[in-house]
Amino acid sequence: MALLYQHGGIPAAAFDRFAMPVRPVMDFSVNTNWMGPPPSIRAQWNGLFSSLDAYPSLHGSAVSDYYLNRYGVPQECILSGNGSAELMYRVALALKPRTAAIVCPSFYHYDRALKSAGTSIRYVAEHVIGDGNDGVTEALCDAVSLCDALILGNPNNPTGRLMNRQSIVDAAKRCPDKWFLVDEAFISFVMNEAASSLLFLRDWPKNLIVFHSLTKFYALPGIRLGAFRASPEMVQKVIGVSPPWMVNSLAEKIAPLLQDAKEYEAQTLTQLRAEVTRLKTRSEGVRHISFTFGAANFATGQWHGSNTLDDLMRPLLARGIFVRDCSNFYGIIPNTFRFAIRSARDNDALFDALNEVACG
Ligand SMILES: Cc1ncc(COP(=O)(O)O)c(C=O)c1O
Repeated sequence: MALLYQHGGIPAAAFDRFAMPVRPVMDFSVNTNWMGPPPSIRAQWNGLFSSLDAYPSLHGSAVSDYYLNRYGVPQECILSGNGSAELMYRVALALKPRTAAIVCPSFYHYDRALKSAGTSIRYVAEHVIGDGNDGVTEALCDAVSLCDALILGNPNNPTGRLMNRQSIVDAAKRCPDKWFLVDEAFISFVMNEAASSLLFLRDWPKNLIVFHSLTKFYALPGIRLGAFRASPEMVQKVIGVSPPWMVNSLAEKIAPLLQDAKEYEAQTLTQLRAEVTRLKTRSEGVRHISFTFGAANFATGQWHGSNTLDDLMRPLLARGIFVRDCSNFYGIIPNTFRFAIRSARDNDALFDALNEVACG
């Protein structure tokens, strides 16, 4: 049976498309923390087994505790689930906006979740909104003016653009009859999370909903763990259209362990900053590719060596390197690819291969 949609970051599909034999790859299309899950989880792994024969709490209370302790979010304002993607579908179903603006290019599931709730979509280009302080609030209000809701990623995937959180709050306050949905899946990777994340906000506009993921920064995509913050009324509304036990008992045991991962967090951020600085310099020497380093743990490259990105993707694959072809991101500049920032050794392997291919 054909799948309803395809994810762009599947190495086996790329080998198939290029009629190449499948081989192991260094996968730069995955943008979770390259260090793998925090050591505290590995250390406790055997003990986690005992959580399997009990039902989890009805609404993931251990995950709510995590958000209270880490971000100061009141428990009635948070709802956790099997990753933030699932919650986007739940929120879309609860809100059922007639029309929504999506700031693009962006994560495909904003579009799919909203369409699944019957919403008509209007796409607004990210560069129209801007990312400085000037005019962003006005641009957001303009973008949502013909719609019931607006959704954006902050920092955005795939561009890494980070918007000033105050501009979003100001827009939400200026347009109280519109919904503002913000995806902060990658916010923990930015330079100053405390000054950037809306989760820390005290004065919460009722029309603001913020999604958060624990699967990216802590490299736990297999566990499925995320949440959204909203007004208590909105949380209740989403609970009303959701099944019970949206967080499994293993995930509920893991969430508190993330509070003991301070050293891992610091190491991640220090290494990421060092690699971004180093790679910015390295990227200047690469022919036929222009690079954009954003605020998150990934960057994009635009291929100018020919008129098809396949001319880069194919020889990279032959060298065991897989990057994310971004052509299925609506509104993307043609021939853009995205790559995760990983360890220095892996990043050097990628840039060595890019240099080889680009120099022909
Ligand atoms: C921008 C963005 N938001 C949200 C998600 C969903 O993350 P999860 O469901 O693992 O929390 C992803 C996953 O790729 C993503 O790229």
